[in-house]
Amino acid sequence: MKDRLRRNDIGSWGRLFWCTILVVCACVFFSGSITFSAFRFFFGEQFHPVLGSTWQPSIMEAIGYESPVSVRETVMLPDQVLVFLKYLSPAQLFSKDDVRCVYSSGDDDTSSQPLLKEPPMRIDVEDFDNPIVRCPIPPRGSTLSLDLKSGKNIPVGPTIHRWDSVAYESLIDRDNTTVVFVKGLNLRPERLSNASRFECVFGWDFRSTKFLLRTPVLSISQEIVRCKTPLSVLSGPPTLDNHIKASVRVKGGQTIRSIARLVRRSDPDPPVRKEHVMCICTMLRNQARFFREWIMYHAQIGVQRWFIYDNNSDDDIEDVIKLLLSYSNYNITRHIWPWIKTQESGFAHCALRARDTCEWVGFIDVDEFFHVPTGLTIHDVIENFSTNSTIGELRASCHSFGPSGLKQVPTQGVMVGYTCRQAAPERHKSIVRPEALNSTLINVVHHFHLKGGFEFLNLDIRTMVINHYKYQVWDVFKEKFYRRVATYVADWQETQNVGSKDRAPGLGTRAVEPPDWSTRFCEVNDTGLRDRVLENYTDPETLFLPWQAINNPGEETMKARRIGRRKEDK
Ligand SMILES: *[C@@H]1O[C@H](CO)[C@@H](O)[C@H](O)[C@H]1NC(C)=O
Ligand SMILES: *[C@@H]1O[C@H](CO)[C@@H](O)[C@H](O)[C@H]1NC(C)=O
Ligand SMILES: *[C@@H]1O[C@H](CO)[C@@H](O)[C@H](O)[C@H]1NC(C)=O
Ligand SMILES: *[C@@H]1O[C@H](CO)[C@@H](O)[C@H](O)[C@H]1NC(C)=O
Ligand SMILES: *[C@@H]1O[C@H](CO)[C@@H](O)[C@H](O)[C@H]1NC(C)=O
Ligand SMILES: *[C@@H]1O[C@H](CO)[C@@H](O)[C@H](O)[C@H]1NC(C)=O
Ligand SMILES: *[C@@H]1O[C@H](CO)[C@@H](O)[C@H](O)[C@H]1NC(C)=O
Ligand SMILES: *[C@@H]1O[C@H](CO)[C@@H](O)[C@H](O)[C@H]1NC(C)=O
Ligand SMILES: *[C@@H]1O[C@H](CO)[C@@H](O)[C@H](O)[C@H]1NC(C)=O
Repeated sequence: MKDRLRRNDIGSWGRLFWCTILVVCACVFFSGSITFSAFRFFFGEQFHPVLGSTWQPSIMEAIGYESPVSVRETVMLPDQVLVFLKYLSPAQLFSKDDVRCVYSSGDDDTSSQPLLKEPPMRIDVEDFDNPIVRCPIPPRGSTLSLDLKSGKNIPVGPTIHRWDSVAYESLIDRDNTTVVFVKGLNLRPERLSNASRFECVFGWDFRSTKFLLRTPVLSISQEIVRCKTPLSVLSGPPTLDNHIKASVRVKGGQTIRSIARLVRRSDPDPPVRKEHVMCICTMLRNQARFFREWIMYHAQIGVQRWFIYDNNSDDDIEDVIKLLLSYSNYNITRHIWPWIKTQESGFAHCALRARDTCEWVGFIDVDEFFHVPTGLTIHDVIENFSTNSTIGELRASCHSFGPSGLKQVPTQGVMVGYTCRQAAPERHKSIVRPEALNSTLINVVHHFHLKGGFEFLNLDIRTMVINHYKYQVWDVFKEKFYRRVATYVADWQETQNVGSKDRAPGLGTRAVEPPDWSTRFCEVNDTGLRDRVLENYTDPETLFLPWQAINNPGEETMKARRIGRRKEDK
């Protein structure tokens, strides 16, 4: 009796299974955008079919069946909604003026009334594969959609992911494993977690369990999970990656939602000789002000490539980058990294991207400058250690500079302007050989765990240090302070019901300059880098430093904004 029941079960499962496959294939062929290898994706491995009543539309969605512009994913941050779009052709790319965020009452499309239309806070459309429209947080109870100038209205949702529980990036590594960056597992920091408690999940749609492939977790730490990649994904065409997302779950638990489409980055065979000796990974937010000086100086001392991880800047950093590129062929790329409290993941992601082309990668901030007191280049310093194949990381001490008596932003830049610092180095920053990184990619306050057999080396301060312009004139410091507090106030709870613009009222008046600010943090006069810069980089005719000679469009914006804020304060 029991046996028969079970066989019946199996029979009906079998039928469901084949029905499912048939319908899926029909869809796939109908749309024409996934080919034969999609078959293998379905047939190749054990997968876990659950027949649902709503899968057809979602497959259509995944394949981009109907619309030239559609919403791929939506993620709610504390202070904005990220709407990731999908274009079928670059012809549809639009500018900020061509789109409006529309807030409507009710969930029902037919009866909803537009309450409010606002321009987006910003749009990022430079990356054709990943265009983003950033809308203000919807008022409670309203639904969001986008109006295009063409008259078309694009619905957003129904699923809006929470920023704190989502798989947000993934890439297939050189060894065919997949690295998934995920929030919401809340693992213990700085250490490996027990991989056998988790599994990786690959598929199109994580709202239910249909068509998901599961694979073992190879290592898991922080927000970084290394997964075995399903064979059918590896052997499929690269176009398939674009449709498949990765995520993670605790065994027996819910799969974390995912927007992490697979990206195949790495050369399978690492080149013998890397294109660059020295690259920099940095994460920034609204630091366009320092950017010219930082790039131009570091280019002079031997940095060849910059990977910029932009954490929601709204100070037109992309214009500053364009300006720099029009000036010289600096190799700078900007990667949008809107994720919150993810510095470690960002660095790991960057290290993987840099590994094929960079011998060494420095991880520093935009207010930090390498200083080689001997006047040599970073290459000279590094070459000294490159021949020793056990050295995987060089650590440079950071000196923290104070306002150095200044009251005004120094016109010649921070390196010339700020010359008084605290006596003791505060910490170190690392230059790592990405080939030496431990496959777990664990990193803690700017240094990575290395593979067995590699060691780090502390650089003598006479060989190389980092000048960190940490406490600048009050106007600059206040900006940093203002943002930090603004972020802190606009937390998840409060932004739920935000439609209003004054999210942090009165902040400007609270940030009052201490009378002795300009003389604080000053224990030692240190003009080493200033002297070097004036001697080596001053144009003999104009007496300008290179970064003074090109115009910065961001500056006007910053100035206008500061004036605007001062008016608001009154
Ligand atoms: C990765 O997968 C591809 C496709 O299956 C295969 O050709 C290649 O040999 C694999 N590489 C490694 C390092 O396993
Ligand atoms: C890891 O988790 C598995 C399954 O939960 C358990 O059997 C194993 O003992 C754990 N290992 C360690 C080192 O904690
Ligand atoms: C920048 O570097 C990458 C490799 O990291 C290389 O492929 C690309 O051609 C370079 N671009 C420029 C403008 O030099
Ligand atoms: C990015 O900026 C947000 C504020 O929007 C901040 O909360 C977050 O911690 C920053 N992320 C990183 C990685 O610094
Ligand atoms: C290279 O190393 C040697 C020995 O450690 C040292 O004397 C020399 O100054 C170093 N050169 C540079 C450019 O740092
Ligand atoms: C390489 O560096 C390590 C660590 O600093 C040191 O112990 C070792 O002696 C060096 N080897 C050579 C050949 O210089
Ligand atoms: C990476 O680090 C872990 C512990 O953090 C260690 O067990 C493992 O052996 C390291 N991997 C390699 C390749 O050295
Ligand atoms: C730094 O130099 C200035 C002028 O040369 C001098 O007035 C000041 O006392 C010095 N500060 C320190 C901390 O040595
Ligand atoms: C900077 O000046 C020093 C000393 O005059 C000189 O040795 C060095 O070559 C110069 N470096 C550059 C990059 O111009």
